[in-house]
Amino acid sequence: MDFRGLGNTCVIGLQWGDEGKGKVVDLLLADFDVVVRYCGGANAGHTIVVGGEKFALHQLPSGVLRPNALNVIAGGTVIDPAVLLGEIAALRQRGVPLGDNLRISDRAHVVFPYHRREDVLAERAARAGEKLGTTARGIGPCYADKYGRHWAIRVCDLLAPDRFRARLAAVVAHKNAYLRGVFEERETFDAARLADEYLAFAEQLRPFICNTTTLLHRLLREGRQMLFEGAQGSLLDVDHGTYPYVTSSNSGGGGVASGAGVPLAALRSVIGVIKAYTTRVGAGPLPTELNDATGDRIRERGREFGTTTGRPRRCGWFDAVAASYAALFTGPTGLALLHLDTLSGFEELRVCVAYRIGGQIVNEFPSDTYLLEQAEPVYESLPGWSEELGDCRRWEDLPAAARAYVRFLADRIGAPVRLIGVGPAREQTILVADGV
Ligand code: GDP
Ligand code: IMO
Ligand code: MG
Repeated sequence: MDFRGLGNTCVIGLQWGDEGKGKVVDLLLADFDVVVRYCGGANAGHTIVVGGEKFALHQLPSGVLRPNALNVIAGGTVIDPAVLLGEIAALRQRGVPLGDNLRISDRAHVVFPYHRREDVLAERAARAGEKLGTTARGIGPCYADKYGRHWAIRVCDLLAPDRFRARLAAVVAHKNAYLRGVFEERETFDAARLADEYLAFAEQLRPFICNTTTLLHRLLREGRQMLFEGAQGSLLDVDHGTYPYVTSSNSGGGGVASGAGVPLAALRSVIGVIKAYTTRVGAGPLPTELNDATGDRIRERGREFGTTTGRPRRCGWFDAVAASYAALFTGPTGLALLHLDTLSGFEELRVCVAYRIGGQIVNEFPSDTYLLEQAEPVYESLPGWSEELGDCRRWEDLPAAARAYVRFLADRIGAPVRLIGVGPAREQTILVADGV
């Protein structure tokens, strides 16, 4: 299929992350010129498998393996320079070039070790049942500083050494007092040492740093086709997700305009990415969670272990109430359905089509996370299939039960499935031009 006809496109997860966005972005990029990460930071873990080789990307956009793609890390992200430079070095060692194909926004916010420390200490201090299960990458504390404004540092600040040193000294004094006072932390940060370290990072990053907003608008005027790579999932969106069990950015499509500085009117297509079942890492409600042999079987078949933290992912049946809600505020024009192969060998498949909360049938995804925690799934059953799907390449190759399952999900969400994943590799993909 020629993806050029999609126009400027956003790829967004419609569940709680790890839907397979990396694979979809990499695939679509055959026909795009630019890929933009617009939210989140090193909490993301996007996996691409090419030629039997696996690449896990955290800070970098998933276009680094496509020689034609310009990779842009836009202003709505938070950047941990140590992670980013580590990723660049590791890729270069594997023969993947990074130079003119990477641009980093001077507006992005910078993650410091005190953010990571606060992330860990706040989780440790939280009462049982109130821990968020974050990735410990300092994401929440860095975004909190961004919105609080007093203690934030942006990429452009790193490029003015004297100003940066003075500002960091004030910020570090505040952070040390805060960590000592609130968490009784004994270790403190040394502002001068930290400034030296970050100024050295800045020198390595300098060739990549620019005003990405003006760059993207120039490229749009030149007619370059852009792909916006969502991180996390819509249900982890700070405004629309299962708050407080969310991340700290707009991981739903709303983040494109604010994060990349490109108006939403420039977007022509939204690809909603779903997994054929549901997973979640970290804490928070997951109505269809299976704490039994079926859940274990999905985890093993799907290799559901976190790309960023290695934690086993919580697994359950597909939750059509949750995914339909995510589709409301992201507006997918098409769906990419991944991991269909993982569901082979189940006699019966279940899809959650409503919740039972306090004895009532509820069709709407509740705003109150406490209510969602009480939700019991109401399931519809579909017949499974026994055939392995890894070698299927066309819609017609799929067993009839698998086709019926795909149709069922598309109907429930109300958007056509255009791409189906039957394995992690690039070529393990079925494209359905007209949609199912
Ligand atoms: P992302 O964060 O949305 O990019 O997803 P992750 O990379 O964290 O997790 C998705 C995992 O599923 C990765 O290990 C992928 O290699 C793998 N994957 C992607 N699509 C498929 C698929 O269709 N079938 C199977 N079996 N694995 C897939
Ligand atoms: P990708 O882009 C899955 C989850 C964490 C935790 C919550 C808050 O790979 O889909 P944070 O560190 O962001 O403050 O953690 O959000 N989380 C993700 N879960 N995939 C991700 O990214 C995630 N990024 C954050 O597990 O529950
Ligand atoms: Mg991931």
